[in-house]
Amino acid sequence: MKFSKKLQQLPPQFFATLVQKVNAALAEGRDIINLGQGNPDQPTPSHIVTALQEAATNPQHHKYPPFRGIPELRQAAADFYKREYNVEIDPQTEVAVLGGTKIGLVELPLAVLSAGDTILLPDPGYPDYLSGVALADVHLETMPLLAENDFLPNYSALTEDVKERAKLLYLNYPNNPTGGTATLEFFEETVRFAKEHQIIVAHDFAYGAIGFDGQKPVSFLQAEGAKDVGIEMYTLSKTYNMAGWRIGFAVGNAQIIEAINLIQDHLFCSQFPAVQQAAAVALTSSQQCTEELRETYERRRNVLIEEAKRIGWQVTAPKGSFFAWLPVPIGYTSEQFTALLLEKADIAVASGNGFGQHGEGYIRVGLLVSEERLREAIQRIEKLQLF
Ligand SMILES: Cc1ncc(COP(=O)(O)O)c(C=O)c1O
Repeated sequence: MKFSKKLQQLPPQFFATLVQKVNAALAEGRDIINLGQGNPDQPTPSHIVTALQEAATNPQHHKYPPFRGIPELRQAAADFYKREYNVEIDPQTEVAVLGGTKIGLVELPLAVLSAGDTILLPDPGYPDYLSGVALADVHLETMPLLAENDFLPNYSALTEDVKERAKLLYLNYPNNPTGGTATLEFFEETVRFAKEHQIIVAHDFAYGAIGFDGQKPVSFLQAEGAKDVGIEMYTLSKTYNMAGWRIGFAVGNAQIIEAINLIQDHLFCSQFPAVQQAAAVALTSSQQCTEELRETYERRRNVLIEEAKRIGWQVTAPKGSFFAWLPVPIGYTSEQFTALLLEKADIAVASGNGFGQHGEGYIRVGLLVSEERLREAIQRIEKLQLF
Protein backbone atom coordinates (compact mmCIF):
# COMPACT_ATOMS: atom_id res chain seq x y z
CA MET A 1 0.00 0.00 0.00
CA LYS A 2 1.09 3.52 -0.67
CA PHE A 3 0.37 6.13 1.95
CA SER A 4 0.67 9.90 2.12
CA LYS A 5 3.86 11.86 1.53
CA LYS A 6 3.26 13.49 4.90
CA LEU A 7 3.43 10.12 6.63
CA GLN A 8 6.76 9.46 4.98
CA GLN A 9 8.06 12.85 6.12
CA LEU A 10 7.44 12.12 9.79
CA PRO A 11 10.68 12.10 11.79
CA PRO A 12 12.03 8.73 12.98
CA GLN A 13 11.21 7.90 16.58
CA PHE A 14 14.75 8.00 17.93
CA PHE A 15 13.85 6.53 21.30
CA ALA A 16 11.80 3.64 19.93
CA THR A 17 15.07 1.75 19.39
CA LEU A 18 16.06 2.31 23.01
CA VAL A 19 12.72 0.98 24.21
CA GLN A 20 13.15 -2.12 22.03
CA LYS A 21 16.66 -2.76 23.37
CA VAL A 22 15.53 -2.32 26.97
CA ASN A 23 12.57 -4.64 26.44
CA ALA A 24 14.83 -7.27 24.85
CA ALA A 25 17.22 -7.06 27.82
CA LEU A 26 14.31 -7.33 30.28
CA ALA A 27 12.98 -10.35 28.37
CA GLU A 28 16.39 -12.02 28.92
CA GLY A 29 15.72 -11.62 32.64
CA ARG A 30 18.37 -8.91 33.16
CA ASP A 31 17.90 -6.47 36.05
CA ILE A 32 17.83 -3.26 34.02
CA ILE A 33 17.79 0.09 35.86
CA ASN A 34 15.77 2.14 33.43
CA LEU A 35 16.81 5.80 33.56
CA GLY A 36 15.96 6.39 29.93
CA GLN A 37 12.30 7.25 30.09
CA GLY A 38 10.32 10.32 31.12
CA ASN A 39 7.30 8.62 32.65
CA PRO A 40 6.46 9.65 36.25
CA ASP A 41 6.83 6.58 38.48
CA GLN A 42 4.40 7.57 41.26
CA PRO A 43 0.61 7.14 41.18
CA THR A 44 -1.84 10.02 40.80
CA PRO A 45 -2.74 11.43 44.26
CA SER A 46 -5.80 9.65 45.64
CA HIS A 47 -8.03 12.75 46.00
CA ILE A 48 -7.75 13.25 42.21
CA VAL A 49 -8.58 9.60 41.49
CA THR A 50 -11.59 9.89 43.82
CA ALA A 51 -12.72 13.02 41.98
CA LEU A 52 -12.59 11.07 38.70
CA GLN A 53 -14.51 8.15 40.19
CA GLU A 54 -17.27 10.47 41.37
CA ALA A 55 -17.35 12.45 38.12
CA ALA A 56 -17.51 9.25 36.06
CA THR A 57 -20.86 8.35 37.65
CA ASN A 58 -22.47 11.60 36.46
CA PRO A 59 -24.51 10.81 33.29
CA GLN A 60 -23.99 14.40 32.16
CA HIS A 61 -20.34 13.47 31.61
CA HIS A 62 -21.24 10.55 29.36
CA LYS A 63 -22.39 12.85 26.60
CA TYR A 64 -20.20 14.65 24.08
CA PRO A 65 -18.28 17.31 25.99
CA PRO A 66 -18.41 20.99 25.01
CA PHE A 67 -15.92 21.38 22.13
CA ARG A 68 -13.78 23.84 24.03
CA GLY A 69 -13.66 22.04 27.36
CA ILE A 70 -15.85 22.24 30.43
CA PRO A 71 -16.14 25.71 32.03
CA GLU A 72 -14.98 24.35 35.43
CA LEU A 73 -11.60 23.36 33.99
CA ARG A 74 -11.09 26.64 32.16
CA GLN A 75 -11.92 28.51 35.37
CA ALA A 76 -9.60 26.22 37.37
CA ALA A 77 -6.75 26.93 34.95
CA ALA A 78 -7.31 30.68 35.42
CA ASP A 79 -7.48 30.30 39.23
CA PHE A 80 -4.31 28.19 39.17
CA TYR A 81 -2.39 30.87 37.25
CA LYS A 82 -3.62 33.60 39.60
CA ARG A 83 -2.69 31.60 42.71
CA GLU A 84 0.67 30.23 41.52
CA TYR A 85 2.00 33.06 39.36
CA ASN A 86 -0.24 36.08 40.03
CA VAL A 87 -1.12 36.07 36.32
CA GLU A 88 -4.64 37.13 35.26
CA ILE A 89 -6.23 34.76 32.73
CA ASP A 90 -9.70 35.15 31.20
CA PRO A 91 -11.23 31.66 31.34
CA GLN A 92 -13.47 32.41 28.34
CA THR A 93 -10.89 33.65 25.87
CA GLU A 94 -7.42 32.84 27.21
CA VAL A 95 -7.58 29.08 27.94
CA ALA A 96 -7.58 26.16 25.51
CA VAL A 97 -8.07 22.66 26.95
CA LEU A 98 -5.62 20.14 25.49
CA GLY A 99 -5.54 16.35 25.44
CA GLY A 100 -2.03 16.60 26.87
CA THR A 101 0.40 19.29 25.82
CA LYS A 102 2.06 17.03 23.25
CA ILE A 103 -1.05 17.63 21.14
CA GLY A 104 -0.89 21.38 21.68
CA LEU A 105 2.78 21.53 20.76
CA VAL A 106 2.29 19.44 17.63
CA GLU A 107 -0.85 21.22 16.41
CA LEU A 108 0.30 24.80 17.11
CA PRO A 109 2.43 25.10 13.92
CA LEU A 110 -0.58 23.88 11.93
CA ALA A 111 -2.73 26.56 13.52
CA VAL A 112 -0.45 29.59 13.26
CA LEU A 113 2.03 28.91 10.44
CA SER A 114 1.77 28.27 6.72
CA ALA A 115 3.89 25.74 4.84
CA GLY A 116 7.42 27.08 4.40
CA ASP A 117 7.27 29.48 7.38
CA THR A 118 10.12 29.29 9.86
CA ILE A 119 9.98 27.91 13.41
CA LEU A 120 12.77 28.30 15.95
CA LEU A 121 13.38 25.30 18.19
CA PRO A 122 15.86 24.69 21.01
CA ASP A 123 18.66 22.18 20.36
CA PRO A 124 18.74 19.95 22.37
CA GLY A 125 14.97 19.82 22.71
CA TYR A 126 11.92 17.65 23.25
CA PRO A 127 11.79 15.46 20.10
CA ASP A 128 8.02 15.72 19.63
CA TYR A 129 8.37 19.36 18.54
CA LEU A 130 9.72 17.90 15.29
CA SER A 131 6.44 16.10 14.64
CA GLY A 132 4.69 19.48 14.45
CA VAL A 133 7.38 20.73 12.07
CA ALA A 134 6.80 17.78 9.71
CA LEU A 135 3.00 17.89 9.85
CA ALA A 136 2.84 21.60 9.12
CA ASP A 137 5.62 21.47 6.51
CA VAL A 138 7.48 24.33 8.09
CA HIS A 139 11.12 25.26 7.95
CA LEU A 140 13.17 24.59 11.07
CA GLU A 141 15.98 26.69 12.54
CA THR A 142 17.61 25.69 15.80
CA MET A 143 18.93 27.63 18.77
CA PRO A 144 21.81 25.87 20.58
CA LEU A 145 21.35 25.43 24.34
CA LEU A 146 24.87 25.41 25.73
CA ALA A 147 26.17 24.76 29.24
CA GLU A 148 28.20 27.99 29.17
CA ASN A 149 24.97 29.94 28.62
CA ASP A 150 23.02 28.07 31.34
CA PHE A 151 21.19 26.22 28.56
CA LEU A 152 19.38 29.40 27.48
CA PRO A 153 19.35 30.37 23.78
CA ASN A 154 21.43 33.36 22.74
CA TYR A 155 19.14 35.40 20.48
CA SER A 156 21.93 37.72 19.41
CA ALA A 157 23.79 34.76 17.89
CA LEU A 158 20.98 34.21 15.36
CA THR A 159 21.55 35.66 11.92
CA GLU A 160 19.47 38.67 10.78
CA ASP A 161 17.96 36.47 8.09
CA VAL A 162 16.77 33.87 10.61
CA LYS A 163 15.42 36.56 12.96
CA GLU A 164 13.42 38.11 10.15
CA ARG A 165 12.06 34.81 8.85
CA ALA A 166 11.13 33.27 12.22
CA LYS A 167 7.41 33.33 13.01
CA LEU A 168 7.16 30.92 15.93
CA LEU A 169 9.56 30.17 18.79
CA TYR A 170 9.42 27.28 21.28
CA LEU A 171 10.98 27.42 24.73
CA ASN A 172 10.85 24.92 27.57
CA TYR A 173 11.96 25.68 31.16
CA PRO A 174 12.61 23.85 33.43
CA ASN A 175 14.17 22.18 30.45
CA ASN A 176 13.95 18.70 29.05
CA PRO A 177 16.64 17.39 28.58
CA THR A 178 19.18 19.76 30.19
CA GLY A 179 17.51 20.48 33.55
CA GLY A 180 18.22 24.20 33.01
CA THR A 181 15.81 26.85 34.29
CA ALA A 182 14.90 30.32 33.03
CA THR A 183 14.96 33.65 34.83
CA LEU A 184 12.32 36.37 34.61
CA GLU A 185 14.94 38.56 32.92
CA PHE A 186 15.42 35.96 30.20
CA PHE A 187 11.66 35.82 29.58
CA GLU A 188 11.55 39.64 29.47
CA GLU A 189 14.35 39.58 26.90
CA THR A 190 12.32 36.98 24.97
CA VAL A 191 9.28 39.29 24.92
CA ARG A 192 11.42 42.16 23.58
CA PHE A 193 12.97 39.89 20.94
CA ALA A 194 9.56 38.54 19.89
CA LYS A 195 8.05 42.03 19.64
CA GLU A 196 10.94 43.35 17.61
CA HIS A 197 10.78 40.49 15.10
CA GLN A 198 7.05 39.70 15.31
CA ILE A 199 7.54 36.16 16.51
CA ILE A 200 4.93 34.11 18.39
CA VAL A 201 6.33 32.52 21.55
CA ALA A 202 5.10 29.21 22.94
CA HIS A 203 6.54 28.29 26.31
CA ASP A 204 6.30 24.61 27.19
CA PHE A 205 5.98 24.63 31.00
CA ALA A 206 5.76 20.84 31.39
CA TYR A 207 8.11 20.84 34.41
CA GLY A 208 6.74 24.04 35.93
CA ALA A 209 6.22 22.40 39.31
CA ILE A 210 9.71 20.95 39.58
CA GLY A 211 12.30 23.50 40.68
CA PHE A 212 15.16 22.77 43.09
CA ASP A 213 17.21 24.61 45.71
CA GLY A 214 14.24 26.73 46.78
CA GLN A 215 13.76 28.24 43.30
CA LYS A 216 10.17 28.13 42.05
CA PRO A 217 10.21 27.99 38.24
CA VAL A 218 9.10 31.22 36.57
CA SER A 219 6.10 31.28 34.24
CA PHE A 220 6.68 32.96 30.87
CA LEU A 221 3.42 34.84 31.45
CA GLN A 222 4.96 36.58 34.45
CA ALA A 223 7.13 38.59 32.06
CA GLU A 224 5.56 41.94 31.24
CA GLY A 225 3.94 41.92 27.82
CA ALA A 226 4.20 38.12 27.45
CA LYS A 227 0.52 37.82 26.60
CA ASP A 228 1.04 40.24 23.68
CA VAL A 229 3.32 37.73 21.99
CA GLY A 230 2.61 34.26 23.24
CA ILE A 231 1.16 31.45 25.23
CA GLU A 232 2.23 28.90 27.77
CA MET A 233 1.33 25.20 27.69
CA TYR A 234 0.77 23.52 31.06
CA THR A 235 0.34 19.81 31.58
CA LEU A 236 -1.04 17.91 34.55
CA SER A 237 1.12 14.92 33.56
CA LYS A 238 4.09 15.81 35.72
CA THR A 239 2.66 18.13 38.39
CA TYR A 240 0.11 15.52 39.52
CA ASN A 241 1.49 12.25 38.02
CA MET A 242 -1.37 12.22 35.50
CA ALA A 243 0.58 11.31 32.35
CA GLY A 244 -1.90 8.59 31.40
CA TRP A 245 -4.92 10.86 31.80
CA ARG A 246 -3.96 13.02 28.80
CA ILE A 247 -4.94 16.44 30.05
CA GLY A 248 -3.33 19.87 29.90
CA PHE A 249 -4.10 23.37 28.72
CA ALA A 250 -2.69 26.41 26.95
CA VAL A 251 -3.06 29.91 28.40
CA GLY A 252 -2.15 33.35 27.15
CA ASN A 253 -2.73 35.49 24.06
CA ALA A 254 -6.42 35.29 23.13
CA GLN A 255 -5.83 35.26 19.37
CA ILE A 256 -3.40 32.35 19.57
CA ILE A 257 -5.74 30.52 21.96
CA GLU A 258 -8.57 31.04 19.48
CA ALA A 259 -6.38 29.61 16.68
CA ILE A 260 -5.69 26.51 18.79
CA ASN A 261 -9.36 26.14 19.68
CA LEU A 262 -10.35 26.50 16.04
CA ILE A 263 -8.00 23.79 14.82
CA GLN A 264 -9.14 21.57 17.70
CA ASP A 265 -12.80 22.10 16.72
CA HIS A 266 -11.86 20.24 13.54
CA LEU A 267 -9.64 17.58 15.08
CA PHE A 268 -11.14 16.64 18.45
CA CYS A 269 -14.22 16.77 20.56
CA SER A 270 -12.34 17.65 23.79
CA GLN A 271 -11.55 15.23 26.63
CA PHE A 272 -13.78 12.93 28.70
CA PRO A 273 -15.55 15.50 30.93
CA ALA A 274 -14.96 13.42 34.07
CA VAL A 275 -11.20 13.69 33.42
CA GLN A 276 -11.60 17.44 32.98
CA GLN A 277 -13.57 17.65 36.22
CA ALA A 278 -10.86 15.74 38.12
CA ALA A 279 -8.20 17.96 36.51
CA ALA A 280 -10.06 21.01 37.86
CA VAL A 281 -9.98 19.43 41.32
CA ALA A 282 -6.22 18.79 40.98
CA LEU A 283 -5.54 22.41 40.06
CA THR A 284 -7.67 23.98 42.77
CA SER A 285 -7.29 21.70 45.81
CA SER A 286 -4.33 21.38 48.21
CA GLN A 287 -0.97 21.36 46.43
CA GLN A 288 0.70 19.39 49.22
CA CYS A 289 0.99 16.35 46.91
CA THR A 290 2.95 18.38 44.37
CA GLU A 291 5.29 19.74 47.02
CA GLU A 292 5.97 16.20 48.27
CA LEU A 293 6.63 15.04 44.71
CA ARG A 294 9.04 17.92 44.13
CA GLU A 295 10.88 17.03 47.34
CA THR A 296 11.12 13.40 46.19
CA TYR A 297 12.75 14.46 42.91
CA GLU A 298 15.11 16.82 44.73
CA ARG A 299 16.24 14.05 47.11
CA ARG A 300 16.81 11.73 44.13
CA ARG A 301 18.75 14.44 42.32
CA ASN A 302 20.95 14.97 45.36
CA VAL A 303 21.72 11.25 45.64
CA LEU A 304 22.54 10.97 41.93
CA ILE A 305 24.77 14.03 41.83
CA GLU A 306 26.58 13.28 45.11
CA GLU A 307 27.22 9.69 44.06
CA ALA A 308 28.37 10.69 40.58
CA LYS A 309 30.82 13.19 42.05
CA ARG A 310 32.05 10.58 44.53
CA ILE A 311 33.23 8.35 41.65
CA GLY A 312 34.95 11.30 39.97
CA TRP A 313 32.30 12.11 37.33
CA GLN A 314 32.33 15.87 36.67
CA VAL A 315 28.60 16.56 36.66
CA THR A 316 26.44 19.64 37.21
CA ALA A 317 23.22 19.39 39.20
CA PRO A 318 20.00 20.15 37.27
CA LYS A 319 18.07 23.16 38.61
CA GLY A 320 14.67 21.75 37.69
CA SER A 321 12.71 19.08 35.76
CA PHE A 322 13.15 15.40 36.61
CA PHE A 323 16.18 14.90 34.40
CA ALA A 324 19.94 15.15 34.87
CA TRP A 325 22.09 15.97 31.85
CA LEU A 326 25.44 14.30 32.32
CA PRO A 327 28.59 14.56 30.18
CA VAL A 328 29.93 11.34 28.66
CA PRO A 329 33.49 10.26 29.51
CA ILE A 330 36.29 11.31 27.15
CA GLY A 331 36.65 8.98 24.19
CA TYR A 332 32.95 8.09 23.89
CA THR A 333 30.13 9.46 21.80
CA SER A 334 26.72 9.69 23.45
CA GLU A 335 25.54 6.59 21.62
CA GLN A 336 28.66 4.59 22.44
CA PHE A 337 28.38 5.43 26.13
CA THR A 338 24.64 4.66 26.14
CA ALA A 339 25.33 1.27 24.53
CA LEU A 340 28.15 0.55 27.00
CA LEU A 341 25.91 1.31 30.00
CA LEU A 342 23.23 -1.03 28.71
CA GLU A 343 25.60 -3.84 27.78
CA LYS A 344 28.02 -3.74 30.69
CA ALA A 345 26.03 -2.20 33.55
CA ASP A 346 22.41 -3.04 32.72
CA ILE A 347 21.52 0.64 32.85
CA ALA A 348 19.31 2.34 30.25
CA VAL A 349 19.75 6.08 29.63
CA ALA A 350 18.71 8.38 26.78
CA SER A 351 21.54 9.27 24.39
CA GLY A 352 21.94 13.06 24.19
CA ASN A 353 22.19 13.23 20.41
CA GLY A 354 18.58 12.01 20.20
CA PHE A 355 17.58 15.51 21.37
CA GLY A 356 19.55 17.29 18.66
CA GLN A 357 23.04 17.96 17.43
CA HIS A 358 23.99 19.92 20.56
CA GLY A 359 22.97 17.00 22.72
CA GLU A 360 26.07 15.13 21.54
CA GLY A 361 28.45 14.55 24.44
CA TYR A 362 25.68 14.05 27.00
CA ILE A 363 23.27 11.44 28.29
CA ARG A 364 19.92 12.16 29.90
CA VAL A 365 19.17 10.40 33.17
CA GLY A 366 15.62 10.32 34.52
CA LEU A 367 15.06 10.75 38.26
CA LEU A 368 12.16 8.33 38.03
CA VAL A 369 13.45 5.45 40.12
CA SER A 370 14.10 5.26 43.88
CA GLU A 371 17.15 6.77 45.60
CA GLU A 372 18.32 3.21 46.22
CA ARG A 373 18.23 2.33 42.52
CA LEU A 374 20.00 5.58 41.59
CA ARG A 375 22.74 4.76 44.11
CA GLU A 376 23.01 1.27 42.67
CA ALA A 377 23.23 2.65 39.13
CA ILE A 378 26.24 4.78 40.06
CA GLN A 379 27.85 1.83 41.87
CA ARG A 380 27.49 -0.23 38.70
CA ILE A 381 29.06 2.60 36.67
CA GLU A 382 31.88 2.86 39.22
CA LYS A 383 32.82 -0.74 38.44
CA LEU A 384 33.43 0.21 34.80
CA GLN A 385 36.33 2.40 36.05
CA LEU A 386 35.76 5.17 33.55
CA PHE A 387 36.37 8.21 35.78
C1 LIG B 1 9.23 19.01 27.47
C2 LIG B 1 7.94 18.28 27.38
N1 LIG B 1 6.89 18.89 26.85
C3 LIG B 1 5.71 18.27 26.72
C4 LIG B 1 5.54 16.97 27.13
C5 LIG B 1 4.21 16.32 26.88
O1 LIG B 1 3.46 16.19 28.01
P1 LIG B 1 1.94 15.74 27.93
O2 LIG B 1 1.59 15.46 26.51
O3 LIG B 1 1.84 14.55 28.79
O4 LIG B 1 1.16 16.91 28.44
C6 LIG B 1 6.62 16.28 27.70
C7 LIG B 1 6.45 14.88 28.11
O5 LIG B 1 7.35 14.16 28.37
C8 LIG B 1 7.85 16.95 27.83
O6 LIG B 1 8.92 16.36 28.35
